[in-house]
Amino acid sequence: MDSLLIKGGAHLEGEVSVAGAKNACLPIFAATLLTDQKCVLKNVPELSDVRFMAEIVAEMGAEVSNPAKGVWEIQAKNLSHVAPYDLVRKMRASICLLGPLTARLRKAEVSLPGGCVIGARPVDLHIKGLRALGCGVEIERGFICVDAKKMRGAQIYLGGRFGSTVTGTANIVMAAVLAPGTTVIENAACEPEITDMCKMLSGMGAIIDGAGSPTLTITGVSKLGGTEHTVLPDRIEAGTWIALAAAARGKVLIKGAQKKHLGSFLDVLERAECPFETRGNSSIFIDASSMRLKPVEATTLPYPGFPTDLQAQLCALMTQANGISVITERIYPERFMHVPELCRMGANIVREGPSAIISGKTKLSGAPVMASDLRASAALVIAALAAKGETLVSRIYHLDRGYDSIDRKLAELGAKVERIKNPD
Ligand code: EPZ
Repeated sequence: MDSLLIKGGAHLEGEVSVAGAKNACLPIFAATLLTDQKCVLKNVPELSDVRFMAEIVAEMGAEVSNPAKGVWEIQAKNLSHVAPYDLVRKMRASICLLGPLTARLRKAEVSLPGGCVIGARPVDLHIKGLRALGCGVEIERGFICVDAKKMRGAQIYLGGRFGSTVTGTANIVMAAVLAPGTTVIENAACEPEITDMCKMLSGMGAIIDGAGSPTLTITGVSKLGGTEHTVLPDRIEAGTWIALAAAARGKVLIKGAQKKHLGSFLDVLERAECPFETRGNSSIFIDASSMRLKPVEATTLPYPGFPTDLQAQLCALMTQANGISVITERIYPERFMHVPELCRMGANIVREGPSAIISGKTKLSGAPVMASDLRASAALVIAALAAKGETLVSRIYHLDRGYDSIDRKLAELGAKVERIKNPD
């Protein structure tokens, strides 16, 4: 398992481009199974999660090729209705196979995904939605078994105790596009990644109204065709780069950072007096050379609220603010694996229920730390850039799941970072 050795104190300078959105690619790869025609996907990031999703759809019977960087061609002429445990258990986002298999084959057997370090990852809303569509859904042998012979459009309220569900919305949309009749999904996820998936489905011939709003209206069609789709830029990567540049007191232009998708995060940064400026609609420039951050309060919420996927990064950055910040996690209340590791670097953070109370400004010192999940890993890199001395971040396969060559991009901006290969 590789590690990153980071020497803090370097000031980043230059420009970096944001890759395609991981959390759009995963449902979009699944959506290619809705047709026997070829789908061409562009601006696909070079991530281990994406490569794994490509392996999964290939295992399910699709012909998959990667003819050029960022370009994937997928054609599912043949398709199995079973997604085995040994595939699904490695990446829970493969739960997104449930919708397309149900729609295309009128049956599906997808292994129940496990939980993960950020918290329990239930799928009760996915099941609720399929049952509302008239599907028979049973849990047998650790599988979600779906019989969709009688599937038809329905009115579905898809909100849960934590609000909307992103992959749950993806699954029910992908089932409904081939369900006879009309489906209305209330409290649907509004995340841009779901809107992007809906855009691709429309390109395949689906009839979807309200994408990006909490109410989706889907008119089922009998068949979908192939399409060509360019994946939208990754707003979470963009937000991560803003935090990396700020922590390193850098001067960085982040290309592809779409302000329309970052409103809640930029609002928090404005309240913190983080010195960024938007350049047009899809670039953000930050000059943090003389930054003095103010403490903030922030609470994660479903989009367009402050994204849970930027919570850990903000925690790391707020260790450099002058005062006490309170960051509350309403999506995954246990998503604080980064806190003990940040404290090992000298941060002063106290957990209080679903909140982290961060007292700044603290002088961080480099230390050996361990990555635990994708966004917690990014938080450790942010802290390492601001720390005095060397930080060794181990288990950075977590980072590679969601960030394309972050070490190379950091080095090109002037960071002192080295990837240490650890073949075991
Ligand atoms: C997606 O996960 C993202 N992953 C996550 O990003 C992201 O953190 C999450 O949405 C929230 O924005 C992908 O898109 C691949 P949810 P998902 O269903 O769809 C509860 C990253 O770092 N819930 O929107 O699995 C659930 O427990 C990853 O890139 C139910 O109660 O999340 C959570 O509290 C991590 N029942 C909340 O809803 C359900 O049936 C939101 O979950 C489903 C979810």
